[in-house]
Amino acid sequence: MKKSDLCRNPAAARNQASPLHVAIIMDGNGRWATARSLPRIAGHRRGAIAVRRTVEAAPKLGIGTLTLYAFSSDNWQRPASEVSALMQLFHEYLRKETEECARNGIRINVIGRRDRFSPALLEDIEYAEKHTAHGSTLHLRLAVDYSARDAIMRAAQLFKPEGEPTREEFRRMMSKAIHSPVCPDVDLLIRTGGEQRLSDFLLWETAYAELYFTSRMWPDFEEADLAAAVQAFYARERRFGTILEAAAG
Ligand code: FPP
Repeated sequence: MKKSDLCRNPAAARNQASPLHVAIIMDGNGRWATARSLPRIAGHRRGAIAVRRTVEAAPKLGIGTLTLYAFSSDNWQRPASEVSALMQLFHEYLRKETEECARNGIRINVIGRRDRFSPALLEDIEYAEKHTAHGSTLHLRLAVDYSARDAIMRAAQLFKPEGEPTREEFRRMMSKAIHSPVCPDVDLLIRTGGEQRLSDFLLWETAYAELYFTSRMWPDFEEADLAAAVQAFYARERRFGTILEAAAG
């Protein structure tokens, strides 16, 4: 599907000339597995396949930045076996996908804290980021050990404006706090799995994001689901707190 096909709302088109920043809370892996009498980690494994599908589909849908919530800072409280299986999955994903991402112009970036990873995972992250740094087709940000509240607090500690504080300067500190280059704000936030909450994800960057909730469990999420979310986004009217020119007269 072409971006122009999605763009039926002229007001939305006017407000959205640049590639989209889409963020996804990938929820429902555990329930997907439990419903099939499988261990939860089987759901995470299928979830990793859905990540691959989504990364492939994103550029075709006009997405320039894709931020995926893979592991929240609160997820450390899950059973140790699930945590270590998830860490193993991130490790495998980075090992398997880095070369292909580099070939396809996908820039990988892991956002969040970095002081609680194993040295081996940290090495994979640094390798993936370095070897894909030139990518300009898609900026893929994987949020691992991520908490928006912690990120805001770290940014506040780093923020030492010389003159009048500006949002742009604070945005730079926010990026620095999570090891990310400065990115555009989130345009569209998708949450799978049927719940409707933000779960400490990108609280600053989603100030004007459109929210899209689907009951689809993450392992079942397909290109068509992403296209439907993007289409819903283009059908919305974004006003950013102002009013449309036509209504203003
Ligand atoms: C939330 O579902 C999902 C997670 C905590 C892990 C997300 C991980 C993946 C999608 C796979 C690996 C990712 C990469 C980047 C390789 P949940 O477990 O809370 O599901 P539930 O609400 O059904 O229990």
